[in-house]
Amino acid sequence: MSALLACALLLGCRPERRPPVGPPTDMPVGVAPTTGVTRDVHSVSHPDEVVVTHTGLDLAVDFDTHVLRGAATVAIKRHDPSAPLLLDVRDLEIRKVQTGQVRDLRPLATAAVAWKDATYTVEDGEFGGALGVTLPENADAVRIEYTTAPGASGLQWLSPEQTADGTSPFLYTQSQAIHARSWIPCQDTPGVRSTFDAEIHVDRELTALMAAKGLPSEEKGTFRFEMDQPIPSYLVAMSVGAVEFAELGPRSGVWAEPSVLASAVSEFGNVEAMIDAVETLYGPYRWERYDILVLPPAFPFGGMENPRLTFATPTILAGDRSLVALIAHELAHSWSGNLVTNASWGDLWLNEGFTVYVERRVMESLYGREREEMEAMLGKQDLVKELAELPELEQRLSTDLTGRDPDDGLTNVPYEKGALFLRLLEETYGRDAFDPFLRRWFTEHAFTSVRTSDFEAFVKAELIEKHAPLAGKAPVDLEGWIHNPGMGPGAPQPESAAFDVVDAALASVLAGEVQVKKLQTESWTPHEWLHFLRALPASFSPEDMGTLDDAFGFTTSTNSEILAQWLETSVRRGYRKTDASLEGFLLRVGRRKFLTPLYRALIETERSADAKRIYAKARAGYHPITQRTLDALVQGR
Ligand code: BES
Ligand code: ZN
Repeated sequence: MSALLACALLLGCRPERRPPVGPPTDMPVGVAPTTGVTRDVHSVSHPDEVVVTHTGLDLAVDFDTHVLRGAATVAIKRHDPSAPLLLDVRDLEIRKVQTGQVRDLRPLATAAVAWKDATYTVEDGEFGGALGVTLPENADAVRIEYTTAPGASGLQWLSPEQTADGTSPFLYTQSQAIHARSWIPCQDTPGVRSTFDAEIHVDRELTALMAAKGLPSEEKGTFRFEMDQPIPSYLVAMSVGAVEFAELGPRSGVWAEPSVLASAVSEFGNVEAMIDAVETLYGPYRWERYDILVLPPAFPFGGMENPRLTFATPTILAGDRSLVALIAHELAHSWSGNLVTNASWGDLWLNEGFTVYVERRVMESLYGREREEMEAMLGKQDLVKELAELPELEQRLSTDLTGRDPDDGLTNVPYEKGALFLRLLEETYGRDAFDPFLRRWFTEHAFTSVRTSDFEAFVKAELIEKHAPLAGKAPVDLEGWIHNPGMGPGAPQPESAAFDVVDAALASVLAGEVQVKKLQTESWTPHEWLHFLRALPASFSPEDMGTLDDAFGFTTSTNSEILAQWLETSVRRGYRKTDASLEGFLLRVGRRKFLTPLYRALIETERSADAKRIYAKARAGYHPITQRTLDALVQGR
């Protein structure tokens, strides 16, 4: 008799399939009788009963079959001694579940403990499944042996051809928002924080990295890590590939494929100054090191603020540091998000709006107000455009995402409306009051998860009640900004003299006063060009586009933001000389923010056939997150 069968017959420890479970309904969200931790509509966990406090990962990376295989050991705190442990899982093959007593044993990844087989269930759920483990009286830890699925939503396995150097395969994780559960059984809610340690085994000459502290390891192919600050599951991150390291400053550096490293080093030369800038404003950097990993171009986002190790798209390597606001953004998350975390995805603006606000303050401090204002203008343009199309329900800062996948609700609202709201508070009360106020928000809530109501209460008590608006400033309508749709009342208006010049130049061209190639554009930065391209009127003909292209060579731009904007405008204006460049871009880049408008432009200009044809070729190279968005858009699924 096999061990598994014996176990099943004798101990009843085989997983049972149960009917799907919905979000927790037995306790009202927002009520936490014992622990201060509330439940989350995107997680099956009941952290108010049993909460994970530390995680040990022991995983082998299998590039042949595209799976991670190993074990996760979770140390738990039991507030309700009769309650089971509930973990989020998605497409995990669970092989064995055991319980034991570890007390404060560390590291946990490979701890030698007298494990006992446990009774457990796996149930289907709305956003994955629920692993329920019955806990014997003294158990304070659970060990789960599992294998991930080759199509795990939080992993992307790249072939050598999909990397910059083309020599080795590459694996990276993207856990935000709810994909950690596809590679680690966990309480996958930003309301729960866990420390962790990990041992990663790689059977090739590749480097494993985690968003954690790397520890020395004697064994070749084994990489050890430790994260001794408690973080939410969405910030657990790993990559395996042929990357090298270069130092940027005393506490910062960059990892990239060898052919990309030099350009990354020069692009990110200001990182140390950025860290200093945030520290001056909002208090010490709490994560010791700040490194950046430049991923292959398939990465679905611009950046991801994994603690100690930002993951970044190579599309920000413009050669002139024009796109480094993205690094300022991910760095800013070290305060807004990683230190003070949104407790649920409906509170995302507490992460992203605060981060855009801090990002702009960093950009102002390093590059001056003019550049910051150009970026703020471009951001507000995005928001205004999107608000015109978005259902009202999605226009609020604080949203109810019950029944919705948080990946689907990613708009400019939490980002740009959130940032404008903070800017309005800043302008109303002045930096003398607002800067220390925000600094205290971060220090007083460090390493905790917060809700919109926490911020509302904090603003009222610490800003509004303690300070009067500056002379001539109206009080801020908190309720209107946080809970109502639309642009908030009295929204700040960024001002850019440089953009006024661009507007005037374009107007003179449109009026037939100046020839395009005679425009005085020598001093224009990519921001000004971007503004120019966005402002091109709908009446622009393909010939007009050709004239512009001949004068300025947009189709061969090496700035991804300019190229993406130009390609979209080209599609919309019927300018077909960019077709080859467009197809190349769609096949090479996986960044969802660029791809969505490009495919949409094709579809909306009756070129669905082209969209479908290119997508059929490109889809396999895209990340599952990008695939999901584009399946819906291009294939109508
Ligand atoms: N944390 C986000 C990325 C994210 C958000 C992933 C929600 C999954 C769910 C990251 O910090 C981010 O905002 N990235 C932006 C760049 C930023 C400069 C606006 C991006 O990827 O475009
Ligand atoms: Zn962000």
